[in-house]
Formats: sequence, structure tokens, C-alpha cells
Amino acid sequence: MVTVLSIASISYGDLSYSIPEETKIGFVIGNIAEDVGIVQRAISTRKARLNIVGSRKRYCKINSESGNLIVAERIDREQLCGPKTSCFLNFEMVLENPLELHRITVHIKDINDNSPMFATDIIKFEISESADKGARFAVGEAHDADIGVNDVQSYSLQTNEHFLFEMHSDSGGGKYGELVLEKELDREQQQEVKLILTATDGGIPQRSGTVVILVTVLDANDNVPVFSQAVYRASLPENRPVGTEVVSVSATDADEGANGHVTYDFVRISDEVSKLFALDQTTGAIVLCSSLDFEEEISYDLKVQAKDGSGLVSFSSVIVEVIDVNDNAPQIFVQSDTHYISENAPPGTEVGIINLQDKDSGANGQVHFSIQSNVPFKLNPSIKNYYSLVTTAELDRELVPQYNITITAADEGTPPLSSAKTIHLILSDVNDNPPEFEELSYSAFVTENNKPGTSICSVTARDPDFRQNGTVFYFLVSSEVQGVLLSSFLSINGDTGVIRAVASFDYEKFRSFTFQVLARDSGSPPLSSNVTVHIFITDENDNSPQILYPAPEDKSFMTEVVPKAVLSGSLVSKVIAVDADSGQNAWLSYQIVKSTDPGLFTIGVHSGEIRARRDISESDSTKQNLIISVKDNGNPPLSTTCTVFLIISDDLADVPELKDMPYEQSSSNLTSYLIIALVSVTTLFMSFIILIFAVRYCRRGKPRPIFDGAVAIPSGYLPKNYAEFDGTLRSSCNYDAYLTTGSRTSDFKFLSSYNENTMLTDQTLKMNTNCPIGKSELCPGVVEESVEFPETAQSVALDQHSVRVCHCTYLVWEEQNGIEMVEIARFVAGSI
Ligand SMILES: *[C@@H]1O[C@H](CO)[C@@H](O)[C@H](O)[C@H]1NC(C)=O
Ligand SMILES: *[C@@H]1O[C@H](CO)[C@@H](O)[C@H](O)[C@H]1NC(C)=O
Ligand SMILES: *[C@@H]1O[C@H](CO)[C@@H](O)[C@H](O)[C@H]1NC(C)=O
Repeated sequence: MVTVLSIASISYGDLSYSIPEETKIGFVIGNIAEDVGIVQRAISTRKARLNIVGSRKRYCKINSESGNLIVAERIDREQLCGPKTSCFLNFEMVLENPLELHRITVHIKDINDNSPMFATDIIKFEISESADKGARFAVGEAHDADIGVNDVQSYSLQTNEHFLFEMHSDSGGGKYGELVLEKELDREQQQEVKLILTATDGGIPQRSGTVVILVTVLDANDNVPVFSQAVYRASLPENRPVGTEVVSVSATDADEGANGHVTYDFVRISDEVSKLFALDQTTGAIVLCSSLDFEEEISYDLKVQAKDGSGLVSFSSVIVEVIDVNDNAPQIFVQSDTHYISENAPPGTEVGIINLQDKDSGANGQVHFSIQSNVPFKLNPSIKNYYSLVTTAELDRELVPQYNITITAADEGTPPLSSAKTIHLILSDVNDNPPEFEELSYSAFVTENNKPGTSICSVTARDPDFRQNGTVFYFLVSSEVQGVLLSSFLSINGDTGVIRAVASFDYEKFRSFTFQVLARDSGSPPLSSNVTVHIFITDENDNSPQILYPAPEDKSFMTEVVPKAVLSGSLVSKVIAVDADSGQNAWLSYQIVKSTDPGLFTIGVHSGEIRARRDISESDSTKQNLIISVKDNGNPPLSTTCTVFLIISDDLADVPELKDMPYEQSSSNLTSYLIIALVSVTTLFMSFIILIFAVRYCRRGKPRPIFDGAVAIPSGYLPKNYAEFDGTLRSSCNYDAYLTTGSRTSDFKFLSSYNENTMLTDQTLKMNTNCPIGKSELCPGVVEESVEFPETAQSVALDQHSVRVCHCTYLVWEEQNGIEMVEIARFVAGSI
């Protein structure tokens, strides 16, 4: 250690030295002896003593041998002088022999043996983050026990972004500093700032001391809430139930406490949207509070705000996309209102315009349609989703008066939705159907002597057209019947088709006639058709039998001469009568009502032949008168009587009256045959009619007693020599046909027995049921002959039903001798 000694020579005995503090013990400050100017030995000999002024401690001493002043104790300037800038140790040296007093001053110089020190280890600041730039915060100064240059000379602050350090000197030379806010603090970034401040002195070597400055940043509401996303997106199928959470927004606020408490709300939201969505103010969850409809709105843009406790807000938006769900069935609109179409509209006629719509989009809105297959209509695509409904075939109102056309539309969604619509289409009428008669032809039977005005029959024609197009009126087609206008016989009711007789008919004048009835509708132009009506006049018993022989109108008596030798059974005479009526009405029976000798003669009931009952004897009167009644079988019967005079004699001269009366047997026979044949067949015919009644009533299980007698058909009356022919006729009809085997055969024989078992049975009638009436079928077997009336028919009313009998009457003309009659009866049972 180098010590700079500064020896200040103090006048007369004052000595001054200078040493640094903390010099080590034993260090020679100076040689006193030399400095005082005495010999070295004098120090000891003169008993040099060193006294310190004002201190208990000595600090220095004098080496008596060498006369050196040496450091005796540790000298600490700071202890000795504190902050005083100059520090001295004052000694007085006393010498004896002679007493001499010398003042010795030792200047203690400072050395840098103390470091700067702060009052505390840590300096705490609390600074609000809102503090402005430039704000100052005083920091307590550091102290250094050393003085002068060894005292605190500078401060240095740890490098940081927020603070600077600025040093100031006070009047006492103390140096202190301030923290200057260079950049604002942010609590949210850094809650506290820890800095080290170093104070440095100027000594050599330099010493320093540090302190920690702890700055706690106090919060200020300087942060707005921040949303986690700038835009929130959510997709939601439109059929989501109410209450579904759409999305949850969240915002954070870096501030503390109320400054950081965030609440949420919608901003500028329309009433409609506010009914759809609800926002939870505290959680930020957005829920659905009413059903969405893609078809109304496909997306929503919601503005939301987040607000902290002191009102700082920030905004975000929520975009809710609505996803389409197939929730709308296709709709079918029928554009045209006219649902009428004329039945004669050609195929391809447009009936209506159909519009298909589906509110859904994409596949959910793709619509396919179909039309029911059983109607003659189809849909033709037109513009976009418009279709025209057209006909595909001819229409007929009379077949199908209206159509219900069902159109079905379905979309392509999963599952697909469909809907249907029915178009009610009414066909309007066109007069395209002529009236049509219910039957091909009509036949009616009217009994002669009818009252004028009697209804005979009625014709009906149907016309399926509508209203007047189908309203039928009837007219008689004018014609003539035997030279007389038809209208003088018949009239027709134009509305009902009922045909009435205007005049009375006479069977004996004409038996049938045919005319046509025209049916015409009221369309424009009208359509018409006609039908043939056959009227058959049936006989009534209005003619009495007429006696041909013996001629009643001849006033001269006709007398038959009977030989005396007549045996029993011999033919003696014959009554011949005719009846203008036909059938039963002309079936004559003969009866002797009075005779001279009742036992002698008998008359054939139907032949009119008068025969002897027994052999004539001599005793019998020669003049015999017979009164004979001829009665027809009508109801009531009509009869005539005649008288036959018989003279029993072998001599013609006895009978003068007979001379001019030739009797032609053959001609008489022919007439008889004719009558017999007529009678027989008529009987047969009537029998069948009666039988048919009987059968009908038997079937009902209520046989009427009135027919008990009527069914007693004397089929035994049929001529025996009529050969029955059968099997050659069509099997569908059962003909009971009788034919005379020979012409002009006089020998008619009648079966006398009356046999009920020969009645026709039910079986026969059944077989007849297929026989059609009104067809001109020739009865086979007689075709070679000239046929005059192929067919006639008769009808008999029975309650509301009636029975038809077709009745073929063939008149066969023979060249010479007049008529031979063949009658074939055909029977049909059935109801009209
Ligand atoms: C069509 O529908 C109507 C009622 O909707 C019904 O009265 C009519 O009978 C139907 N017509 C056909 C042909 O089905
Ligand atoms: C009858 O038919 C004609 C066409 O022939 C038509 O114009 C008219 O409307 C029809 N009348 C009715 C009532 O349908
Ligand atoms: C009756 O109809 C036929 C064909 O059906 C026809 O030829 C005839 O002219 C018609 N007669 C009258 C009078 O209309």
C-alpha cells in the first residue's frame, strides 16, 4: 500500500501528516524526531509523549527508538468523522528537557470502503395501468457512508420498456431519482413489473448497491369484451324443435371484476327474428323459440353484442343457415275453371292447365306427377311446371257422363311427399244418339168390336242423350189399311207412345195390319228411327151359325126320303152349317131338340150326320120331323135351329116336294170337311190356351176353380185320321201339327170317348218357351204348297201377364174343289 505522505511543516513545532483511513497498524506516518529537528535519541531521552485531543482512543503512537509516528489502531474515517468532509486526528507531543509542545495533525483521508445502500431491499409501487406516459414516481436515494467521490455518483435502472430513471441532486449534494413512465402499463399484459435499480459511487474501485423496485399494475377498465369468433356460423334443419340450441357465443373481457363481467344481447333485431331466436344474456347461448321455415328465410344474420360492467361493448355476428327439409308436399293448381267439355271434342282437346309447385328446394322440390291410367286424359308438359290436360280418346257422354281425373304429384325428398287433386270434368251433350225402340217390332192383339179409344199397345224408344236431345216424340207413319188412311183406325200419344184405336175393328173384314211408328228426339237437327207394329184382331163370337143345308131361307120345306129298310146306324141325312167366326166361335155342335119319334134318330154332335138309332119298322110313322139346334162354342154361344123333314118311304113318288131338290152329297161333304177341320183345330187351340192358364196357375200353387172345367179338353175330339207329324220341325219349337191325310174323304170318324189323360201336360208347355213370335218362319212340311198366311198370332191377357200363342194357319188351295185347311199350332208360354 502506498501512502502519500504530506508533511506540512507547521511553524514552530506544528507537524501535519496525512494518511488514508484504514491504514494498517504499524504504518509509519512520519519520523517525528527528524521533523521536529531533534536527534533520534532524544525521543526516548526527552520522554516524548503523544496525547490525543478529544478522544479516548490513541490511534497512533511514537516509536521511541526510531522516532517514527506509527498507526496504532484501526482508523475508520466514517466512524471518526461521519459525513464530514474533512477528518483530522489532533495530537499533542510533549517533550521534556526542555519541555516542548508540538501539535501534530493527522489528516485522515477517505477511501472507498463503503458501498451505496438503499434504505430497504425492495421498493414497492402501485401504479394504475391508466397512468399516463411521463408520470413520475420518486424513488428514495441510496446512501454511501463514504464521502465525496466515493459517495453515490449515479443510478442505473434495469433496462425495461416502461420506465426510465431520472437522477436529481439536492442542495446537500445528495443524489436521488425518479421513475418516469415511458410506456403505458397494461395490467392485462403484465400485472407487475420488477426492476432492479443500481446505485454506484465514484470510488476506485467502484462500489454499488441495488434495490428491487416492484411495480404492481392496478387495473383500469381498459378492455372491451372480445368475442371468440368474429362470425359464428350455424346450420340448422328447418324442422328442429323449439328449444334447440343454435349456437353459443362467448366473449371474454380481460378486465377484472365488474369490468370483466360480460353480458350478451342482440343488436338491431327485427320483431320477427326476435320471435325466432332467444339469446341467453349470461351464457351467450342462442336457442330457437319458434319453428324455422326454409321456405320463408334461408338464412339469418344476427348481430350480437357483448358488454362489460362499465359499458364497453363489442360486436359479432351469427349467421344461421336454414337447411331445407322435405316438409312441403307438392301442390297442384288447376288453372282453368271450365270443367265442361263437349262429348264430340276430338282427341287432343285441351281441358285445363295444371300447375305443379313445391316450396321445397333441391330434390325436395323436384316434382313428378302421374295421372290415373283408366281415364282418356294425359298431361302434356307446357312451359316450366305448367301442364295441359288433354283428351287422348273420343269421349261419349252416354257411356261416361263425367270423369274424376286424379292427378298425383310426388317430390324426390326422402321420404317423398305427395298430394293428389281430382278434377271433376262433366261432358256436355251432343245429339249423337237416335231414339232406339226397346223391341225390334211390336205386336198387339185387339179383340174385334172394340170400343173406340181403347188402348191397344204402347211403344217405347229410349234416347240416352241429355234433355231435349234425348226427349222422344212418337208419330204414326202415314199409310193405308185396305184403302183407308191409318189415322182413321189408330192414334198415338206423341209423349207416351200409347197407341189407341180410333175405330172399332171387325175380324171378319181384316185380321191384321202393319204400320210404322217414328220416334224422333227434339235435338237440332233431330234424329229419328222407326219400328214396325203388327196389330192382330182377334175374333169374337159375333156371328150365329148359318145353316147351309137344309136351306132355312128356303120357304119350301126340304124333305129327305128314308128307305124303309134302313138299318140301325145308317146315315139318313146331314145338317150343314157354317159360322163366320173362327176358332171356338165357329166350332159348331148339333143337337136334336125335338123329334116326332125321339128314339128313332140321332145326330152326330159335330158332324151333323143324322143316323138311324134302330132299324126302322113298319110301325114307325112315315113322316118324321126333327128340329135341330146348331150352336157354336163361343162364349156366350150363339145358336140357330132348323127343321129336317124325313119321309120313310121306298117310293120317291110319295114325296112330290123332293123332285126339284137334287142333293149333292160330294159338295156337302166338302163343306163338312172344311168345317170339321176348322172346328177341330180351333178346339185344340182353345184347349191349349186353357191349359196354359191352368199351368200358369198351377205353378203359382193356386189353381183357380174356374179352370177346372175349362181344362177338360176333349182332345179325343181330334180327328183320328189326322196323322201327327213331328220331329221334322225345329226342336226349339214344339209344333203339334195335324194334317189331313186325304182330301174329300167323307168318312170322318170321331173318337167318342172323352179322356182327361190326353190333356197336354206341363212338359209340352215348357218345351214351347223358346218359340219366338213375330218371325216369319214357315212351318216345314207344307212349303210346297202355296202359303197364304205364314203366321198369325194371338194373345190372351191374364192378369198383368199374358200368354202368347203363335198359331200358324195354312190355307192350302186345291185346284178344283176349294180349300183344304191345314193348321199348325205353335204355342209359346211366357210373359210379355
Ligand atoms: C266424382 O266425384 C263426385 C264427388 O266428388 C261424385 O259425386 C261422382 O260420383 C264421381 N264421379 C265418378 C265418375 O266417379
Ligand atoms: C244437344 O245437342 C246439341 C248439339 O247437337 C248441343 O249444342 C246442345 O247443347 C245439347 N243440348 C243439351 C241440353 O245438352
Ligand atoms: C224407317 O227406317 C228404315 C231403316 O231403319 C228406313 O229405311 C226408312 O226410310 C224409315 N222409314 C221412315 C218412314 O222413316
